[in-house]
Amino acid sequence: MCGIIGYIGEKDTQQVLTTGLRKLEYRGYDSVGIAVFNGESVQVQKSKGRLEELQQKLDQTPLLGSIGIGHTRWATHGEPSNENSHPHTDANKEFAIVHNGIIENYLEIKRELIEEGYTFQSETDSEVISHLFSFFYNGDMVSTIQRVVKRLDGAYALGVVSEHEPDRLYAVREASPLIIGAGEGEALISSDIPAVLEHTRDIYILEDGEMAILTKEDVTLLETETGIELNRDLFRPDWDMEQAEKNGYDHFMLKEIHEQPTALQKTMAGRFNKDKVSVEFDELQWSDQQVKQWDKITIVACGTAYHAGLIGKHVIEELTRIPVDVEVASEFRYRRPIVNEKTLVIVVSQSGETADTLAALRQSKHLGAHVLAITNVVGSSIAREADEVILTMAGPEIAVASTKAYTTQVLTFYLLGIYLADRKQTISNDYHEQLLQSIAEIPNKIEEILTHSNSIRWYSESIKDANSVFFIGRGLDYPVSLEGSLKLKEISYIHSEAYAAGELKHGTLALIEEGTPIIALITQDEVSEKMLGNIKEVKARGAQVLGVAGEGKMDIWEYVDECCYIPNSLSILTPLLTVIPLQLISYYTSLALGNDVDKPRNLAKSVTVE
Ligand code: G6P
Repeated sequence: MCGIIGYIGEKDTQQVLTTGLRKLEYRGYDSVGIAVFNGESVQVQKSKGRLEELQQKLDQTPLLGSIGIGHTRWATHGEPSNENSHPHTDANKEFAIVHNGIIENYLEIKRELIEEGYTFQSETDSEVISHLFSFFYNGDMVSTIQRVVKRLDGAYALGVVSEHEPDRLYAVREASPLIIGAGEGEALISSDIPAVLEHTRDIYILEDGEMAILTKEDVTLLETETGIELNRDLFRPDWDMEQAEKNGYDHFMLKEIHEQPTALQKTMAGRFNKDKVSVEFDELQWSDQQVKQWDKITIVACGTAYHAGLIGKHVIEELTRIPVDVEVASEFRYRRPIVNEKTLVIVVSQSGETADTLAALRQSKHLGAHVLAITNVVGSSIAREADEVILTMAGPEIAVASTKAYTTQVLTFYLLGIYLADRKQTISNDYHEQLLQSIAEIPNKIEEILTHSNSIRWYSESIKDANSVFFIGRGLDYPVSLEGSLKLKEISYIHSEAYAAGELKHGTLALIEEGTPIIALITQDEVSEKMLGNIKEVKARGAQVLGVAGEGKMDIWEYVDECCYIPNSLSILTPLLTVIPLQLISYYTSLALGNDVDKPRNLAKSVTVE
């Protein structure tokens, strides 16, 4: 997965491209490059590694011009290297392209082009595209693009410049995100909105099978296959750049952790009616017949969104008694899932672009299921293709490790569970009211945990040198343990595992030895005694236990070495609270280890290829 930027206009093109790339680094950051047309020829500069390395080269030899494209890469075909970095050109540098996605039939195309005498500089799938431009060019860029894309199987967002048309920037989209910014006397293309907001708020979201022609004066959208001109409404984001910048925090992750109270408030805003007697989802047009027909719900997602889905299962089953399956999208898509018109499929994705989740969505629709998406990105592929969409209102999430997107997804599952329970009349009015009242209090309770974040910070010092950390919990504490463990491993690189505490004795207990750190969540009243029993088991093997429990639970001091208290709430709602100290522990551990918190090694924010 990669980030694309393109610019045409009077500003310093090189600078517009590099600052845009900085904002897209979350999409990939193992190599980077730009191409600028200087009036005579296309000049390319690229570099393995981070943007700083490219910047050093550009400081020595600036690329001047008023049109250009840039790319930040996360390697899929070919290792990170100067040669494999984008932009790619044809042999005569008549065309330069940047590509995000994957060209599945590139080997076949490459073989044919080599037979035609073309030579290749890189191991990438993308380089075939620049040579195809040279091969098919017939004096007209639109029909050349049409011929090129006809040869491509797979996913692609493309930015193209050509010395034949130095006053036009071309963009093409098929199954990889691409947006157009239409500014005053300038225009941009980008994989994501924050990279263009500094220049314009007038955005067109390109759809699959569409292309755009950008000049300084205007933007024209066309259906790629037919060349028919399209009318598209502008999209004007109502969030600003400040929201997408660090806003005084050292890292995006810390900023995003602290944004959770507001993000949750925004996600619940307008969902309760005045007296908190019902939950409203105007976007859901479900008939009683439909709701009655669904005999199961299947939640499909990846990574952190999958963990939110696990909470969703507990909550929906508890409140509605409808059976719920939760599946990892990369597994779901390759088996024959039992999903049909009697299934409500809920896909969960922060970015709305995760390739496996999108494939699961398509498969579910094909099998006749009704698909609801929970996503954070308006106009994303998943938002557009689902039958219905609930937007989480987390705002842009930049840190690779997801925090506020997760809690807004979890909150959405609570609201959805209550909404379904209302429709099916499966919970009492009193419980209903109690739930809504307690949900409304959650943002303040998170705020309270955050004001004590220093009392959590010290714990990172004691685990930063550990070889392994274990998270344990029962009931709803178990999926939160999974999320805590994922957070820790992805940014601290410390091995960690999460276990349903009752399972420890079936294997993992063998790994517990003197000093092994264990983070034990103890918030589920019904299994609290059992949980304390499990803590005894690990303590007996020498483990050092940090308990995470509700305020006032003093009896646990008998069992744990340290304790982190969270404000009390209904047992069913504690996942929204317990995850906060776990996020902070991983953040501070990563910081203590000197890691790049926002951009962990080998990982990317949005995984738009398999
Ligand atoms: C990547 C990110 C994770 C995220 C997962 C699913 O692996 O690093 O933080 O949970 O993708 O992403 P999505 O955008 O579909 O929620």
